[in-house]
Amino acid sequence: MMPKVFITRAIAPSALSRIETVCEVDLWDGEMPPPYSILCDRVRGVDGLFSMITDRIDAGVYEAAGASLKVVSNMAVGYNNIDVAAAQARGIAIGNTPGVLTDATADLTLALLLAAARRIVEGVEYVRAGEWRTWHPNLLAGRDLNGATLGIVGFGRIGRAVAHRAQAFGLRILAYSPSLTDEEAARFSVTPASIETILSEADFVSLHCPLTPETRHLIDAQALTQMKDDAILINTSRGPVVDQAALYAALKEGRIGGAALDVTDPEPMPDDDPLLLLPNVIVIPHLGSATTQTREKMALMAADNLIAGVTGQPLPNAVTT
Ligand code: GLV
Repeated sequence: MMPKVFITRAIAPSALSRIETVCEVDLWDGEMPPPYSILCDRVRGVDGLFSMITDRIDAGVYEAAGASLKVVSNMAVGYNNIDVAAAQARGIAIGNTPGVLTDATADLTLALLLAAARRIVEGVEYVRAGEWRTWHPNLLAGRDLNGATLGIVGFGRIGRAVAHRAQAFGLRILAYSPSLTDEEAARFSVTPASIETILSEADFVSLHCPLTPETRHLIDAQALTQMKDDAILINTSRGPVVDQAALYAALKEGRIGGAALDVTDPEPMPDDDPLLLLPNVIVIPHLGSATTQTREKMALMAADNLIAGVTGQPLPNAVTT
C-alpha cells in the first residue's frame, strides 16, 4: 500500500507528480488555507503532511493524525508555524527548504530598499492620480544608496546575499548575527556590529533573522528610538520581529524615515491598518520567494523531504533544532 499524504495547497505540477509516483495524495486546492478543523480532519491516518507557512501545525494536528504521521514537510525555509518540539517528542521529522529561495528573497529585499529609498510607490501613485504636471528639482526626491550604511540584522544565507547585492550599490554594510565571527565578516566585506550600533548608525536597517521567542519584537519602541530620524526599516523576515504598533507611532511622529514591509503581524494585514495610510510605508503581501522558478524549486525540495520521510529515509533538509 502506498503511504498516504495530505498537501495543504496546490503546488507545482512537477512536485505533485513526483509525490504521486510514491504516495496516495489528498490535495486541498483552495485559494485559502484549509481551516484548522478541516486540516485536523484530513490528516487522520496520513503518513506525511506537506504544509505551508499559512498552516498552524501543532500538537492538535499530530494528535489528529495519529501514530502513522512520520513527517511534516513545510514548503518554506521558516518553520515558526510548526511546533517542532512537540513533533520531535513524537518522533515526527520536520523538513524545510533552505537555500533555493535565498536569491529570490535577497532580490526582493533590494527591490524594497530601492523602492523606499527612491519613493517608487509614491511616484506611481502620483502619476496614476494625474498629478504629474512638470519636472521639478524637489519632486519626490529620495535618498542616495552610494555611501550610505545598511545594517543587516541576521547574517545567514539571505542576509549575506543581501550584503552581496547591496555592495554593488556602494552601501557600507554593518552586520549582526549572534554567531558572526570577525573572519566571516571579513570574508563578506562587512563590518560586524551590535544591534545597538546598527540601529544608531544605519540609514537602512534590514531584518533577516528567524522568528523565535528571542527575536519577537526585536524592533520595539526602544529600538525604534535608537534609529536615525531618516532611517528606513525593511522587513522580509517575519512580521512579529517588529512591534508594529510601535513602528506606526515612530513613523507617524516622524522619528524614522520610512518602512518597507514584505511581512506583517498579522498576515494578511487588515485593510484598515493605519500603516497603509502613511505615504512613506510600502507593504507587499509576503512575496520574498515568489518567483515561479523559486516556488517550483521549493515544492520539489519539500516533495523530496516528504518522500524521504514517508519511506523511512533521513530527510535531505531536516529541521534539527
Ligand atoms: C517564507 O516566508 C519562507 O520561510 O520560506
